[in-house]
Amino acid sequence: MSLSREQMLAEMGIVPLWVPRQPAVAAEDAAPPAAAAAGLAVEPAGVVEKTVANALPEAVAEAAEGAHGDWQELAAAVAACRLCPLCQQRQQAVLGVGDRRPDWLFIGEGPGAEEDARGEPFVGQAGKLLDNMLAALDMARGQRVYIGNAVKCRPPGNRTPEAAEIAACRPWLERQIALLQPKIIVLLGKVAVHSVLHEDRSLASLRGRRLEHGGIPLVVTYHPAYLLRNLPDKAKAWEDLLFARRVLRDSLA
Ligand code: URA
Repeated sequence: MSLSREQMLAEMGIVPLWVPRQPAVAAEDAAPPAAAAAGLAVEPAGVVEKTVANALPEAVAEAAEGAHGDWQELAAAVAACRLCPLCQQRQQAVLGVGDRRPDWLFIGEGPGAEEDARGEPFVGQAGKLLDNMLAALDMARGQRVYIGNAVKCRPPGNRTPEAAEIAACRPWLERQIALLQPKIIVLLGKVAVHSVLHEDRSLASLRGRRLEHGGIPLVVTYHPAYLLRNLPDKAKAWEDLLFARRVLRDSLA
């Protein structure tokens, strides 16, 4: 579907064209039990990999140490990653998509079912909204924009990633940011905030502020999937993107 600029703005502000994705979870797709004490010993029924789970803190520390490669090495490491239990049910790890010398880096939560199947972030309903938001700013994925996620593997049943899973994936995200050197980072939702800023404050308290990560300007806004369920907040997300554009322009001036 191709929308006019006005339609895109209407889409983000008032008129919902997209419907919320239904969290229809197949029985075998249900989330595994909550992680045990350290948040690490997740043992989905029938897929027990204690070595993966128990080795996690040391393995993550080693990964963080070793996460200095180029794109090829990063992609290979992420594709083979077994640092957390999310590897056990993924079809593939989803590294990210877009311009590798971007102005903008958008960071979401983690792949859903469609992303897991296609190997690209934000290709479902939330992705369509994100694409429209980009288009309203005269941008598109791949054109000055890179899109990634806090975790690279699909959480079963599209549940929210656990803190330990976010921590396990953080070295890969940090390496990605270092390779991309974006001019601005936009965090989409609480999981991205948790991953990058190590913050658990509400989005409401972080929106509308120029933050930084490693010297790179950063702003926070709502996750597109949240916006699909909370249509009035689309207008706030649009304000956030306009704010981000001003932050970017100011930082380049
Ligand atoms: N939601 C996300 O946070 N990331 C995706 O890639 C898809 C949906």
